[in-house]
Amino acid sequence: MANILEIADLKRIAKRKVPKLFFDYADSGSWTEGTYRANESDFHKLMLRQKIAVDMTNRSLKSSMIGQDVEMPFAMAPTGLTGMQCADGEIKAAKACEAAGIPFTLSTMSICSIEDIAEHTTKPFWFQLYVMKDRDFIARLIARAKAVGCSALVLTFDLQILGQRHKDLRNGLSAPPKLTPKHIWQMAQCPQWCLGMAGTKRHEFGNIVGHVSGVDDMSSLGMWTAQQFDPQLSWDDIQWIKELWGGPLILKGILDPEDALKAAESGADALIVSNHGGRQLDGARSSIAALAEIVDLVGDKIEVHMDGGIRSGQDVLKALCLGAKGVYLGRPFLYGLGADGQAGVTKAIEIIRNELDVTMALCGERNVTDLGRHNIDKHSELVKQYEIQLG
Ligand code: GLV
Repeated sequence: MANILEIADLKRIAKRKVPKLFFDYADSGSWTEGTYRANESDFHKLMLRQKIAVDMTNRSLKSSMIGQDVEMPFAMAPTGLTGMQCADGEIKAAKACEAAGIPFTLSTMSICSIEDIAEHTTKPFWFQLYVMKDRDFIARLIARAKAVGCSALVLTFDLQILGQRHKDLRNGLSAPPKLTPKHIWQMAQCPQWCLGMAGTKRHEFGNIVGHVSGVDDMSSLGMWTAQQFDPQLSWDDIQWIKELWGGPLILKGILDPEDALKAAESGADALIVSNHGGRQLDGARSSIAALAEIVDLVGDKIEVHMDGGIRSGQDVLKALCLGAKGVYLGRPFLYGLGADGQAGVTKAIEIIRNELDVTMALCGERNVTDLGRHNIDKHSELVKQYEIQLG
C-alpha cells in the first residue's frame, strides 16, 4: 500500500472497499455524534512541550498493561462485527496484533468465535464480555474464554441499552438485521469484499450462534441480542463475574468520577475511561477530557486505561502523558482491516508506532514509561477548561 501515511488514508480506502452499512457501523456515533467528534477533536486541545538537544538514541516503547508486557502500550479495542469489515476480520486483526506484540481484544459481538481466534493465534488474547440476562450463557462464555487461555476479561459496563445510532437505523442495520435489496446493491459495489465473504463460512455472531438454543439465523439472533442486554446490570454483578473468571479483570465504560470511585472498589484490576467511542450517551464529555480527573481520583488504587478518539500515535502519547497506563484503538484498526485485511492492520499499527516514537523523541523522552504531565503545555485549552493539574 503505497502512499499510506496516516490513519485517514486507510479510512479513505476502507470507505471505498467496505459495503456502506458496515463501514457506517464502524464509523458512527450516536445521535448528533457530538461526543464521537469531541473524542477526536479534544485531543487537538492538548499541546506538547518541545524539547531540544537531548539524547534521543535507544528509545523504547515497551511497557505493560495489567502486569502483562506489551511492545507498545496500546491494544486493539473490542469492536462488534469486525468480521464484516472484511472476511475473517477478527482472525486477521488478532494475527496482526500478535505479530506486533500488543493485546487483541475479541468482542462478544464478533463474527469469528473465541475458539476461531485461539486456533489461529499462539499467544493469549483478551476477551470482552457483555452482561446479558441469560446468566447461564454468560457463565458458558466465561468458561470458553478460560478454556482457550484468554489472559484478561474486559467487562463492558456502559451498554445496558443501545445508544440511538442514526446511521445504523437509516441503513437498516437495526435488529433484527435483514438483507434488503439496498444492502445487496451496496455489497455489489465492493467485489473484493464479496469475494472474501464467499470464501469464508463465518458470517454470523460466532460466539452466540450454536451456543444458545433457539438462535440459528441472523434474524432470530438479532431479536435475541436486542432482548438480551441486561437493563438491570449493577455493580453487584461484578463479584459474580470476578469469581467465575478468576483472572485479570478490566472494567470498561467509566466516564464519571463517581463511577470511577466505585470501579476502584469493585475489585477490577483496571478501568477503561470510555464513552464507547461516542456510541452511547451523546452529549457526554470526551474520554480524553475525563481522563486526568479520574487518574487523579483513583490512579493510586486501580490501573487506568482509556479509549475513544485516538487516531494517531500522538494521541496515544497525550493519553499516556495524562496518566493512562495503556490505551485502546478501535476504528483505526477497523479502517486498516477494511483497506487491506491483516496487512492493513499491520500498517495501522506501524503508523501509530512511528507517530508515537517520533513524537516521544521530539518531546525529549526516550522511554514511553517516562512520559507524564510534564510533557504537556500548560497553555493548552483542555488543561485550562478542565483545570488539569500538570504538577
Ligand atoms: C458494540 O459494541 C457497538 O458499539 O456496536
